[in-house]
Amino acid sequence: MNIAVLASGSGTNLQVLIEQLHEDKATDINISVVISDRKQAYALIRAKQAGIPTQIVSVKNYNNRIEFDAEIARHIECYSAELIVLAGFMKLFQPPFVRKYHNRIINIHPSLLPAFPGATAVADTLAKGVKVTGVTVHYVDEGVDTGPIIAQTSIPVYDTDDEESLHKRIQIEEHKLYPKVIKWYAQGKIKVEERKVITDSSETL
Ligand code: GAR
Repeated sequence: MNIAVLASGSGTNLQVLIEQLHEDKATDINISVVISDRKQAYALIRAKQAGIPTQIVSVKNYNNRIEFDAEIARHIECYSAELIVLAGFMKLFQPPFVRKYHNRIINIHPSLLPAFPGATAVADTLAKGVKVTGVTVHYVDEGVDTGPIIAQTSIPVYDTDDEESLHKRIQIEEHKLYPKVIKWYAQGKIKVEERKVITDSSETL
């Protein structure tokens, strides 16, 4: 199965997907393209080091977000990607793109959704003083981090945590969860019934 990975930043999740999926021939999962909206994203270097094609699609080069999305869709078709994997991709898609790829876009988010959606989840978590947070992998719908939840892992928030220490512990869990969920998807083990996602997997999280 070909997947497209979209990343805006450092790409530590991408790195794990390269090592545990793309380079493990037993998985039959191939990252056919890495797309970024930021030309300085370190994720692009990680992709190049692994010999994976890269594409940069910058918002500023398009008249509007529909055209931006359309260019991303063009690359997805060109590289025959069946699944779109958002790994720290910090742009929202417009409804036509989300409808075109219904239940074919997944995202990883650094909180237990529906708590703390948006771009500042870890800071918002600390500001609210919650004692448990975690990681969510979900389908992307037309809202901000509102799509059907596929899998979650929880972690404690410590009194001594700052944004950096908490995000670091969250990322350790992200790196375990994302490859597992993508493998389930490739094996046809994820079923969606309205908002409810059933993962037909004997593997525990
Ligand atoms: C990840 O922690 C991911 O959960 C977060 O961006 C980080 C990207 O890290 N995504 C969001 O906040 C989406 N709202 P990475 O570039 O090292 O994979």
